[in-house]
Amino acid sequence: MSAALRTHASRVDSQVELQRNTNPRMPRNIIIDTDPGQDDAVAILLALASPGEIEVLGITAVAGNVPLPLTQKNARIVCELAGRPDVPVFAGCSAPLTRTLVTAEHVHGKTGLDGPQLSDPTMPLQEWHGVDFIIDTLRREPSGTVTLCPLGPLTNIATAFQRAPDIIARVAEIVLMGGAYFQVGNITPAAEFNIYVDPEAAEIVFRSGAPITTMPLDVTHKALTTAPHVQGFRNMGTKAGTMVAAWTDFFERFDKEKYGSDGAPLHDPCVIAYLLEPEMFSGRHVNVEIETKSNLTRGMTVADWWRVTDRTPNAMFMGHLDADRFFDLLTERIARL
Ligand code: RIB
Ligand code: CA
Repeated sequence: MSAALRTHASRVDSQVELQRNTNPRMPRNIIIDTDPGQDDAVAILLALASPGEIEVLGITAVAGNVPLPLTQKNARIVCELAGRPDVPVFAGCSAPLTRTLVTAEHVHGKTGLDGPQLSDPTMPLQEWHGVDFIIDTLRREPSGTVTLCPLGPLTNIATAFQRAPDIIARVAEIVLMGGAYFQVGNITPAAEFNIYVDPEAAEIVFRSGAPITTMPLDVTHKALTTAPHVQGFRNMGTKAGTMVAAWTDFFERFDKEKYGSDGAPLHDPCVIAYLLEPEMFSGRHVNVEIETKSNLTRGMTVADWWRVTDRTPNAMFMGHLDADRFFDLLTERIARL
């Protein structure tokens, strides 16, 4: 972590807590940073189906599940599916800060949105780099009013924090999908994919001093799309419902084989559901450090769940959700599209 970032992070730590706009009555202004991915797609649909509660200022694509040319294209496909070609979509970083990109076609398919047949998007990709959009938005919007929602590797967020440390104190909250503790890893025995792909970026974000709420595998593995849920999406008879059913059907085959679970874990929609109904989640505010040195445990989120160290708590680490309430919300919102 650069000296400037370290200084800034410590200043943020010591600063009196900024009044952060997480007021439930006002729409939450968010930036979704994403690597679609079927579960990212469902998360984006959930956000766009909730106007008045969530205002999506923009979507920044990052390399992750599939390379950047596909994640930026997929983000635009999803916006058009939601009838929202007005949402600006930006391409961000095409590779981790220092490491070679690791992708997950084995889970998401070659396109990243395998399952249904999809036509190419017609809405344009924005000219700006996604990192510039993140920096500019946080500087332009009133401090404490923009929530960052990373759903993939944290490369874009970390790059923005490195290039513009002044924006860190202006972030209302970072609500991200990533990490694992009691559920251990999904890409290696020790690490969850989003953190594994860019552990250095994750370290910058978790040490930044910004308020962080984490949706790790510990909670997302409790959001399983069982067959009745998939049928519920299909029975909507809408394009969005049919797509979500096809995506969750495809996405499920990998997890069912691997975990023998009945249904696929809907990881990324947990982030958006938290913005809409935070009380359906519970967890613990603990210290989370990222393993960046060892190859064996690269990307592990070392959560001090039992507070056995004197390391300062830096993240709300979620462990439980009310799955019925989660799927009731998701079904009701997707049916709106
Ligand atoms: O480990 C699950 C996470 O990795 C999800 O965000 C999925 O979309 C992939 O990015
Ligand atoms: Ca993702």
